[in-house]
Amino acid sequence: MAKKKIVVLTGAGVSAESGIQTFRDADGLWEGHDVMAVASPEGWEKDQALVLDFYNQRRAQLHSVQPNEAHIALAELEQKYEVFIVTQNVDDLHERAGSSNIVHLHGELKKARSTVDSNLIYDWDKDITTVDKCEKGSQLRPHIVWFGEAVPMIGAATPLSMIADICIVVGTSMQVYPAAGLVHYVKDEVPKYFVDPKPASINIPNLKVIADKATTGVRKLVDQLLKEAE
Ligand code: APR
Repeated sequence: MAKKKIVVLTGAGVSAESGIQTFRDADGLWEGHDVMAVASPEGWEKDQALVLDFYNQRRAQLHSVQPNEAHIALAELEQKYEVFIVTQNVDDLHERAGSSNIVHLHGELKKARSTVDSNLIYDWDKDITTVDKCEKGSQLRPHIVWFGEAVPMIGAATPLSMIADICIVVGTSMQVYPAAGLVHYVKDEVPKYFVDPKPASINIPNLKVIADKATTGVRKLVDQLLKEAE
C-alpha cells in the first residue's frame, strides 16, 4: 500500500522556538530593518555591503540554533508518510532535523549565487564579502529571493500541493505570495491543518485550525497522524 502524501507548508513560526526571529511579529526582524534596504534588488544596488552584512549575521546565527520539536516531529512523519516540506524559511533546520524532501521557496542562507549567472549556486557557510566572486568573476550574492524577485521554486511546489492527501501549514502569516497561494491548490476534500498561536484566517474547505505554538501543536498533530497510519 503506497504511503499517503503529506505536504507541509512552513513559515518563520516553525523556527521561532529555535530562537530565529519571525518577520512580522512584535519585535520581528522587519521591525529592526528597512525591508527594502536589505531584502530587495534596489537595496542591493544601493548598498551591497549593507545587504551582505544583514545576511552574514543571519547565516552566522545558524551555528547557534538547533531544530526544535516541530522540525523533529515533521521529520518523524516520514516513518509512515511520503512527506514534502515546502518552506518559506531560509534556515537549514528542516534539513538538520532529518526531513528528506525540502523545497525552499525563498532561497537558502547557506548558499551563495553568481550575479551574472543565476545557475551558478554555491554551498556557502561563511560570510559573503565584496571580494567573493563566482567562477565568471562576478560578485556573489545571497541565494535569497528578495521582494520583487521571481520565485522559481513555486513551479516545483504547486504540483506537490495538488497531489497532497493531507496538508499541514505551520507558522506563517500567509501574507506573502505566491507562497501563501499554495493552500488553494490542495484538493477541497483533503484534510488541512494550520498550526499557529495567532492563526491568520484561511478560507479553504476541510481546515482544522490548531491555535498553538509549533513545538506542541505540531508534535501532537504528528503523533495523531502516525497513530492513524498504523
Ligand atoms: N509557533 C508557530 N507559529 C508561530 C510561533 C510559534 N512559536 N511564533 C510565531 N508564529 C507565527 C506567527 O503567529 C505568524 O503567523 O508565525 C507567523 C510568522 O509570520 P511572518 O513573520 O510573516 O513569517 P512568514 O509568514 O514566514 O513570512 C513570509 O515574508 O518577509 C518575507 O521572505 C520572508 O519568508 C518570509 C515571508
